[in-house]
Amino acid sequence: MSKDLRAETIFRPADHVAIIMDGNGRWATNRGLPRLVGHRKGAERVRQIVRAAPGLGIRWLTLYAFSTENWKRSTEEVLGLMAIFARYIEREADRLAGEGVRMRFIGERSRLDPKLQRLMAGIEARTAGNDRLNLTVAINYGGRDEIVRATRKIAEEVANGLLRPSDLTEAALAARLDTGGLPDPDLVVRTSGETRTSNFLPWQAAYAEYEFTETLWPDFTPDELGAMINRYSNRERRFGAVIA
Ligand code: IPE
Ligand code: IPE
Ligand code: MG
Repeated sequence: MSKDLRAETIFRPADHVAIIMDGNGRWATNRGLPRLVGHRKGAERVRQIVRAAPGLGIRWLTLYAFSTENWKRSTEEVLGLMAIFARYIEREADRLAGEGVRMRFIGERSRLDPKLQRLMAGIEARTAGNDRLNLTVAINYGGRDEIVRATRKIAEEVANGLLRPSDLTEAALAARLDTGGLPDPDLVVRTSGETRTSNFLPWQAAYAEYEFTETLWPDFTPDELGAMINRYSNRERRFGAVIA
């Protein structure tokens, strides 16, 4: 590897940060409050982190908001979360559009309320020309579900004679994931002390660096994210190679 490329590999900025926003429920329970209060506090944090992201050098920010497994929660909590997502889009649309944010969603949409689906499609279309910050929110997202859906598309293309099995490459599969066209995350953050990935971006984060913190999501600040990015930028990413 040439010296220049080596420097780039070692000091690559955290262009794409993906966050597993965990701990809203515990934040509320610790205070004797209903879990939904924690989710509302969590949404306020999302606003603040989105606003701070460009200043931290982030160009791509991907947030895990609701997993394919989160349907196992009470109806009250699920409906409350869906209402928070709809309200976030309605309230933040003007600001996001005005601040150059491009908003997208990943995950399986057909199970979501039609009104929420319309809000999601509306803000995606409205902000499609922006590129200061690419904000992607994962709703009803599961990495395994995403891979199954991509595989189904590939099987259909093969069955219809549009794709030959020998033309199936990593790039061809990646292009059919919900994240097709998005770069892989450089840094994945999880709050609340859990050290698992819970089905978040298993394909895309194959070579990501991870940062875990005990901080619950409603207490997570741009300063703490900045400290994680500083640590990240001093790490050596080898990508399987030997770096002298
Ligand atoms: C993360 O917080 C938000 C979602 C998963 C929707 P949790 O609701 O998982 O909070 P804890 O883990 O119960 O504290
Ligand atoms: C992961 O958090 C999903 C989101 C943050 C949206 P969970 O709280 O659902 O994950 P587990 O159940 O602790 O693995
Ligand atoms: Mg949790």
